Amino acid sequence: MSIVALILAAGQGTRLKSKLPKVLHRLAGRPLVLHALDAAAAVTGGRPVLVVGHGAEAVRAAVGERASYVVQAEQLGTGHAVLQGRAALVGQADEVLVTYGDMPLLRPETLQALIERRRETGAAVVLLTIDALELVDFGRVLRAPEGGVTAIVEFAQATPEQRALPERNVGAYCFDAAWLWAALPRLPLSPKGEYYLTDAIALAVTDGRRVEAVKTDDLAETIGINTRAQLAQAEAALRERINTAWMAAGVTLIDPATTYIEPTVAIGPDTVIAPNTHLRGSTTIGAECEIGPNTVIVDTTLGARCVVRQSLLESAWLAEDVDVGPFAHLRSGARLERGVHMGNFGEVKNATLGPGVKMGHFSYIGDAQIGAESNISAGTITCNYDGVKKSKTVLGERVFLGSDTLLVAPVTLGDDAQTGAGSVVTRDVPANTLALGVPARVVRERGQRLTEKRPEGR
Ligand code: UD1
Ligand code: CA
Repeated sequence: MSIVALILAAGQGTRLKSKLPKVLHRLAGRPLVLHALDAAAAVTGGRPVLVVGHGAEAVRAAVGERASYVVQAEQLGTGHAVLQGRAALVGQADEVLVTYGDMPLLRPETLQALIERRRETGAAVVLLTIDALELVDFGRVLRAPEGGVTAIVEFAQATPEQRALPERNVGAYCFDAAWLWAALPRLPLSPKGEYYLTDAIALAVTDGRRVEAVKTDDLAETIGINTRAQLAQAEAALRERINTAWMAAGVTLIDPATTYIEPTVAIGPDTVIAPNTHLRGSTTIGAECEIGPNTVIVDTTLGARCVVRQSLLESAWLAEDVDVGPFAHLRSGARLERGVHMGNFGEVKNATLGPGVKMGHFSYIGDAQIGAESNISAGTITCNYDGVKKSKTVLGERVFLGSDTLLVAPVTLGDDAQTGAGSVVTRDVPANTLALGVPARVVRERGQRLTEKRPEGR
């Protein structure tokens, strides 16, 4: 059977009191609508159709090719929103999965259960419900004495007796497409002047069609974002879900309540994550690493056995056995090869530190290539920007920089070169020589004593 997902995302989200359309508010770093979209796409396999209206252009820009779109120009209710998809979708699929773009915690497994139930029973509609008295303003599920669902009554229209019923409409449905497209134009106008999708349930019963309900017991799945308080609640629930899964996969989280891992992150087993650590975007952490506390890692790859303390890593790449921090800042294009030690108050941008490089204290390395086993002493700075253009610094292997060396790029230091403390290096330094002074000049071969003669021609 062919199936299409329709996700409603046209509402304004008045209660968020925001310029941003509701479904673009972020949860675990990603717009709400992408959470809903991923869950739907995971079960239908195809590209979901998004009903957009309020802030349509911004929503399209954020979602792009991941969805196709139908516009609901005026927000006349959830039933009216689904109706806007009819022209594009009629005859295109046998089933329509409908979810709300403001419900980011619905799990693919749950949506799959709705679809399976419909295929088993041939129901006109299968809806998702939960027994939860605490969900005060949710639609109430009415059942006949023999148990079948007969209708959903919205909270505002429900009688005190109906309000006391425990079963709630979560807001996810799998419809028989042919029945849905024929039934939608018959939805009644609600007392609020809207067309409610929930009224389709009673229509199916009137039509003599079967209605089925699947119950979830996961309260997190029901979180719909109408307010900023619910956004924070969803953040906590999603965090708990993600962190529980990583612990089950063999990752130690010392304090899951203060560990923030976005759904797009991957972590190897036996890695230990200390409190107040934020792992974001397309970050991958290898096995047996120690991360945190107080660390933010964004779009960065770490090999096995890395240690990162109290640091900020953005768009960087670390091989195995690298240790970083405290108070290090890796920026875009930083590459730290195997065994690099980068201590406190360092910044590396668009630069490679070769295997075994040591950079202990207070340094800026930008637009540079540092050869294996070189030593970047305290206070080293690559002067990579002359106000107009960026230039490159290249160090060979086993270069030893004295404290407070300024490398005025473009400049190259050969293998085994050395600089004296406080050198301002404006010219290339050949291999195996010592340069010092301001500006730095080669004084002798590295390792020779001062009283010995300078190398020929230098
Ligand atoms: C809806 C259900 C309610 C259920 C609750 C669960 C209806 C009528 N009611 O109520 O039974 O318990 O969800 O959270 O469906 N939207 C549009 N166009 C519109 C109106 C809404 O696209 O004209 C979108 C919204 O952007 C939102 C979703 O549909 O993403 C749900 O709308 P919302 O107004 O939040 O419905 P609830 O009042 O939460
Ligand atoms: Ca809602």
